[in-house]
This record gives sequence, C-alpha cells and structure tokens, in this order.
Amino acid sequence: MSDTAASAPVAIADHGAVRTITVNRPDKLNALNAATLDALHQAFDDAAADDAVRCVVLTGAGSKAFVAGADISEMNTLTPVQGRDFSLRGQRLMRRIEKMPKPVVAMINGFALGGGLELAMGCHLRIAGDNAKLGQPEVNLGLIPGFGGTQRLLRLAGRAATLELCLVGTPVDAARARELGIVNQVVPAAELEAETMKLATRLAESAPLALRGVLDCVNVGGECAIEEGLEYETAQFGLMFSTDDMREGTGAFLERRKPAFNGR
Ligand code: COA
Repeated sequence: MSDTAASAPVAIADHGAVRTITVNRPDKLNALNAATLDALHQAFDDAAADDAVRCVVLTGAGSKAFVAGADISEMNTLTPVQGRDFSLRGQRLMRRIEKMPKPVVAMINGFALGGGLELAMGCHLRIAGDNAKLGQPEVNLGLIPGFGGTQRLLRLAGRAATLELCLVGTPVDAARARELGIVNQVVPAAELEAETMKLATRLAESAPLALRGVLDCVNVGGECAIEEGLEYETAQFGLMFSTDDMREGTGAFLERRKPAFNGR
C-alpha cells in the first residue's frame, strides 16, 4: 500500500490491484478547486499507466461528502475567461476519467453536488450509500453545470430527469437517484466501503483487455451512429481472439475451473 501526504488534495491507496483515489479536503466537503482538479487528473494519468492497477475506486474523504461541488469561494471572483478555463479544466478531468482504459467506480459517501455529481458521472459505475444526496444545484448560485453535467446527465438519465435536477436545483436522495438511473446500486452507508471493494475486486480479477473492449465500445457507441458503433464492436470482438485471456477464459469454462487472466 502507498499513501500520499495527509494534506495533499488527493490521497492514493492501493489494495491489491484496486487503487483508491480519495478527494482529500474534508473540511471543505471535498470541494473541487483548480489544484484538486489538477491533482485528480494526475492521479488518473498515473492509474492508467500502471499495469498493476486493474480497477480504480474514486471517493471523498470524511463521512459527509463525496464532493460537494466546484469550489464556490474560488469561483466567486473568476472573470468570464477564467470561468471558461475552469469549465474546460473540469471537463477535461471528467473526460479523462470516462476514457480510462480500466473501470472506475464512484463510491458516493454523502453529498455529490454540482461538480461532485459531474465527477461521479464521469466514472463508469456508481455505488451510493443510502445517506447520499445527489444534485445539480448550480442555478441556486446563478450558475449552470460546467463540468459536463448538462450533457452527461442527459445521456445517463434522459431529458426529464436532467431538466428536473438542473432547473429545480434540489438534490435527490440515493433511492430516487437509483430510480432515475443515476446510480447503479444503493447500499446501507455502513456497508458502502465493503460493497464497493467487493465490486472493485471482482472487476480487478476480470479480464483487463475485455473490460477495456467494453469501455471503448460504449464510449465510441455513445457518440456515433449505430452502424459505426456496430462496426467498432465487431473489430473489438475480433481483436479479443488475439488475446491469451480469451483462450484462458473459454478454456477455463470448458475445463470447469476458475480462469486466471493476465491482461495479455
Ligand atoms: N465550495 C466551497 N466550499 C464549500 C462547498 C463548495 N461547493 N461546499 C461546502 N463548502 C465548505 C463550506 O463553505 C464550509 O466551509 P467553512 O467551514 O470554512 O465555512 C464547509 O465546506 C462545510 O460546509 P457547510 O455548508 O458548513 O456544511 P453543511 O453540512 O451545513 O451543508 C451542504 C452541507 C452540502 C448542504 C452545503 O455545504 C452546500 O450547500 N454546499 C454547496 C453545494 C453546491 O452548491 N454545490 C455546487 C457548487 S457549483
């Protein structure tokens, strides 16, 4: 296990092949300032480049919040050009996460508001404690979501839910977020960490190249016409037949044993 300094805006810890990246500003409910956005970007670059990491869990420090939004005190004084740059900085981070070649699970341990929900939506899977509150309350600040929220929520949960959350600005509880399709799973808060690690460990033991193939297909397919998406899927499917993992997975099934995937 490796840990970063307690005062760093982001903390890193490895448990086997699962890397946990923790937004570490609990006294500010893990609000995303520019330095935290940059530290997160670096942490995801590092996790992508490290073959020993097979799954990433993203969470917030403390018991109250995943992330309570972009840093309002930092935004309060921005000029229009700086505001645009801040939006781009956040959007680039969410895109980095979305395009990770290995699964990223958001462990939502409390408030996921504004940039916090946008951060969670950049992840591939979301598991929330039953005490979580999720929302896009930017209109209450005279703002709109700027880290991809209007676009990702639309694709994830549809127009009605997006307009409800972004126009009304009132957060929803975890159960309602599950109903809307914003989170994949809701568990009792006390079991959140254990349930998330169970899911992450399962993903970490799965075939890395197959997981990457799924992520690539879904990313590409979400942004193109179905014919192109199907073509891309066929190419990725064919590519799987070049991997050791495909021989191992199908062979293990036929031999009635557990497969051991090596990512080659
Ligand atoms: N940006 C900057 N600081 C924030 C923050 C944010 N998005 N969210 C919380 N904080 C800070 C508070 O200013 C406070 O700092 P302080 O102790 O130095 O005054 C600290 O975190 C604790 O927050 P507090 O508001 O006292 O906690 P609470 O339990 O009373 O309320 C929330 C929790 C989440 C309801 C409330 O903090 C809130 O509404 N936050 C903003 C949510 C938001 O609008 N996000 C979208 C931003 S675009």
